[in-house]
Formats: sequence, C-alpha cells, structure tokens
Amino acid sequence: MEADTTASPFYMLALETTCDETSAAVIEGPWPPVSDLDSGWPVPRCLSNIVSSQVDLHSPYGGVVPEIASRAHLTAILPVIRQSLDAAGIDYPDLSAIAIATKPGLVGALVVGLSVAKTLSIVLGKPLITYDHMEAHLYAAQLATPSAHIFPCLGLIVSGGHTTLMDCQTALDTTWLGGTLDDAVGEAFDKVASMLRLGYPGGPVIQRAAESGDPKSFDFPRPFSQETRLVFSYSGLKTAVLRALQANKPMADDPLQRPLLIANLAASFQAAAVESVVIKTRQALRQTGHKRLVVGGGVAANRLLRKALEEMCHRQKAELFIPPMWLCTDNAAMGAVAYLKLCRGELADLDCDVVAGLLRPNNGRNKR
Ligand code: KG4
Ligand code: ZN
Repeated sequence: MEADTTASPFYMLALETTCDETSAAVIEGPWPPVSDLDSGWPVPRCLSNIVSSQVDLHSPYGGVVPEIASRAHLTAILPVIRQSLDAAGIDYPDLSAIAIATKPGLVGALVVGLSVAKTLSIVLGKPLITYDHMEAHLYAAQLATPSAHIFPCLGLIVSGGHTTLMDCQTALDTTWLGGTLDDAVGEAFDKVASMLRLGYPGGPVIQRAAESGDPKSFDFPRPFSQETRLVFSYSGLKTAVLRALQANKPMADDPLQRPLLIANLAASFQAAAVESVVIKTRQALRQTGHKRLVVGGGVAANRLLRKALEEMCHRQKAELFIPPMWLCTDNAAMGAVAYLKLCRGELADLDCDVVAGLLRPNNGRNKR
C-alpha cells in the first residue's frame, strides 16, 4: 500500500499495547516528509495522547498478569482510539497512516494492538507502520525537546520490563549494548514493595517509604560493578532484601518498630538499585564516547535516579535528556517515531507479526 502523499495535513494514529497500558495518539507529521532523516527534523507533533492504565486490575497480584492485560486491551482499545481522535478534533477518514508497536512486549497484548491496527489499515485503505517500543521510549525525549539534537546518543530504558542500554546513531539506527540478566529494575521495585507490603506499583511507594529511611542501614549488592560488561542483575538484590526482612523478623512484627525497618530497607534497596543503573550507564558513556544520554521508562520518574544521573552526566560532561513523566511511562505519543519510518518508506506488510520478549544482543543491530 502506498503512503498517501497528497493528504494535507498529515495525521498518523499511533497505538501502544505492549504491556499494561492501552494508548492511542494522533500525531501530526510535517508533509512533505522530513528532509533530515538523521536528526529526524522537523519533529512531528502530538495532538492527543490517551492512556488507559490497567494498574487497578493488576494491583491485587503485585505485577502484570499477561492474560488480564490482553483482555483489558480488547475492552479499552476502541474507546481509547475514539477519545484520541476526538481530542485531536479529527475522525477516522482524516487519518493518513496507522502505526503500532509490535516489539518487544507481552505476546497477547501485542497481538490485540496489531490486529486492530491491521483492521484499520485495511478498512481505511491507509498504510501500516510497525515500530519498536524501545526506540519509541527514547524518541519520547525528542518529542519533549523538539529543537534539541538528541542523537547520536546513549539510550537508557528503565521500566517494569526493561533495563537496557542502547547505542543510538539516529532514532531508528540503534544497537543493543547491554541489559538485565534477570529482573528489570522496575520489576525489582514492584517485587520489593510487595515483599514489604507497601502496594503496587512499587516505584512510587518505595520512593516515599525511603524518604524517612537511612540508605546506609543495609549494605545491599551492586552486581557486576567491578566488571566492564554492560549487564544488570536485580534478582540477587531482591533476595538480599528478603533475607534482611527475615533476619529482622522481631522488628518487622512489632508495630512500633516496623515503620523504621521498612523505611530503612526501602532506602537501602533504592540506593542499591539506582547506583547499579548509574554505574553501568557511566561505563557505557565511557565505552561508547557518547556525550548525550537519553533516558526513558517509568523508573525515570525516580527522584534519586534523576539526581544521580544528573550528577554523573555533569561529571562526564554529557548532556542528559529525560522527558516529563507522561512521556516516560508507556504511551502512544512516543509512537511518533513511526513517522520517521514512513519518511524512509518503511511500510509494513499486512502479514507482519509481533515479536514478543526482550531485545537480545544476538543480532547486534536492532533489526526492524
Ligand atoms: O514504563 P512503565 O510505565 O511500564 C513498563 O514497565 O513498560 O514503567 C512502570 C515501572 C513500574 O515497575 C514502576 O514501579 C516503576 O516504573 N516506577 C518507578 C517510579 N514510578 C514508576 N520506579 C521507581 N521510582 C518511581 N518513582
Ligand atoms: Zn515501556
């Protein structure tokens, strides 16, 4: 299917269903297409971004339940698209292209989004573009600072599903540099919060509990910090918190002493989790020689992490780009990255499929 180059202005519907947020955004792209594909300028504009969160559905389980996520996407996606079109002041016939994140993510969740995107592409007779959720997370910083050069850069994605470092020559030319060997950092926040009976999602509640705790009260591990390999690991840290909780059972069972114990555990865990991210990111900056760091993902909301990355980048003389919170967590606005693919003529076939799971280093280049 050919891109409709006569449409003016150019509206692209971007969809996001990789995990537990159903989101639709209307993106207004400059047309004719961008002239400078390396910088991606001029940057497309987000006219609307509707996000339906499933947090309440997953909360009783302390984490995302894939089957519940798929079913919730099914229920939410059409109303979310309707709201997004209304908010942008347009309707289905005004759309010039449909974009959908097809990797990585939960397979059932991805399939719901792709099925809807294919259907719209067929019914409206408009091209389909698939995009990479990781590249979208990093492109969010470009949307937030449209006049800044953010590429080439080192990309860091810290969320409930990812702890990943990427070498980004442009928004679409990215290479996987390293990631977690087990849990993602956000997943560790969620699991530790559940262990400490603080609720879900874990990030904000751990951050709050940590405010009244001493981050030095427990000496939790910072795995691989002495190695140059760009790898993260959070399962050992999680177990260390559990052991410390068990070792202090009398205090944990005493209603008067419990708050201080929980605050100290939260503060010490947060300090270790954040320091691990910062150590590996610093190593990656040094190894790649990049002088720009772009961060995405829900854990980027963490105040301690933001401060530590700011200080580290200042010392490394690197520029730091972290988008505002609404662009850090999963959203379809960041699917604006698909507009660059359209400009390159990279349209998807209707028989394309989803790619579940995380990026792996096996192919080096992040193939699209
Ligand atoms: O990017 P996101 O919305 O969804 C994906 O996982 O893709 O990230 C959600 C994660 C959760 O694990 C949540 O606990 C974490 O981001 N998070 C935080 C904070 N706010 C959210 N982690 C640490 N500190 C926070 N303030
Ligand atoms: Zn994400």
